[in-house]
Order: sequence, then C-alpha cells, then structure tokens
Amino acid sequence: MIELRDLRDEDEDLLFQWRSEPEVDRWMSDAAFPSREAHAGWFSGLRSDPDMQGWLITRGGVPAGLLTFTGLLSHHRRAGWNWFLGSAEARGRGVGRAAQVLGLDRAFVELGLHKVFAEVMADNDAALKAQAASGFRREGYLRGHVLKNGAPRDVVLLGILADEWHELREAARRSLVEAHLIAG
Ligand SMILES: CC(C)(COP(=O)(O)OP(=O)(O)OC[C@H]1O[C@@H](n2cnc3c(N)ncnc32)[C@H](O)[C@@H]1OP(=O)(O)O)[C@@H](O)C(=O)NCCC(=O)NCCS
Repeated sequence: MIELRDLRDEDEDLLFQWRSEPEVDRWMSDAAFPSREAHAGWFSGLRSDPDMQGWLITRGGVPAGLLTFTGLLSHHRRAGWNWFLGSAEARGRGVGRAAQVLGLDRAFVELGLHKVFAEVMADNDAALKAQAASGFRREGYLRGHVLKNGAPRDVVLLGILADEWHELREAARRSLVEAHLIAG
C-alpha cells in the first residue's frame, strides 16, 4: 500500500541523502545543491511554516519519496506541487500514480484548494507522463526558464483545478484500490 505520512525528525537525514541522488538532483531547479545547514533550515521550515506542507510517501510502510505543497497562504487558494521518489526501487511501479491521487485529495478535499500547479523540466518524461495521467493539464511552456548548473532549461507549466479533480477522483481511486496500491 502507498500512503502519505507526516514528517518525523529522523526523515531529515534520509531526505538529504535522497536530495543528493543524481536521478533526483537532475530534475530539481534549486539554484545549487543545498549544504547540510541549508537542508536543515528547509526541513524545519517545511514542518513549521504554514505556507508549506509536506508528507513522506511510503510503500508498505517503507519511505519511498516526498510530496510537498508550497504557497499555501496565497489568497488564490492554490499550491505548487513538488515531489520525487528518492528510492530507485520505488520508481516506475505506480507509486507516483498512487501518491498523486492521495496528494490531490489532500489538496482539494482536505485543504479545500482551488488549484494545484507544477513546473516540470521539459525533458522529464517520467514526471510529465505521470502528472498527465492524473489529470494535470499543460498550461504553458517557459523557454530557458531555469538555470541548471549554469545551463538554461525549458520548463512545462502544469495545472489541475478542483472541479477537474472532483470529476476524476472516483475512477482514479477505484483503479488504485483494485490494484491494491491504496486503501479503499
Ligand atoms: C516522476 C516520478 C515521481 C513518477 O513516479 P513513478 O512512480 O516513477 O511513476 P508511475 O510508476 O506511477 O508511472 C506513472 C506514469 O508515468 C510513466 N513513467 C514512469 N516512469 C517513466 C519514465 N522513466 N519515462 C517515461 N514514462 C514513465 C508510467 O508509464 C506511467 O504511465 P501509464 O500510467 O500511462 O503507464 C518518479 O519517477 C521520480 O521521482 N522521478 C525522479 C525525480 C523527479 O523527476 N521528480 C519530479 C520533479 S518535477
């Protein structure tokens, strides 16, 4: 089963380790790889700043990845979606698909948001395909929008509205329950 659980003190080390994995780092648009101190500050902010919320994605109770929302205090009732699976064994097996359904329910059912949006590097096929499969629509293409290791990279802007998720969620949940990926 795939679940989202609240962050714990011990997750800080694991998240730093995951953040340094080349397959995670290559898709991150932060200015530079964070120092240990910067990571600790980010982790503490994630747990205390009301503008952000984050959960560990677990598979069979074992940590697999991270999902965060940013910009929650915006009066537009929208949040930025950021995620990754840090554990290589968890990728490409439907964990991302399940985490999205759980995450979009947090956003639209629990938090009552109006919109969730994401900025994805244009050559990140796995993220673009996974997010399209759960209802994110392509809203824009931003040329040379981020500098990754000094090189300009294009970014695709994705978004999903609350009404769209309410239309899709029953079928999305049902197929994951049938595949024993999430609890019914
Ligand atoms: C992006 C990510 C979260 C997707 O999660 P995942 O568990 O690997 O994806 P899933 O197994 O749920 O697959 C969902 C869809 O994406 C497709 N997909 C998965 N990996 C893929 C890959 N490497 N290339 C192309 N498509 C891929 C699957 O075929 C599936 O589509 P389908 O339902 O039509 O078959 C995960 O691969 C990851 O963490 N990647 C590295 C970090 C990253 O890119 N983070 C996102 C930054 S925006």
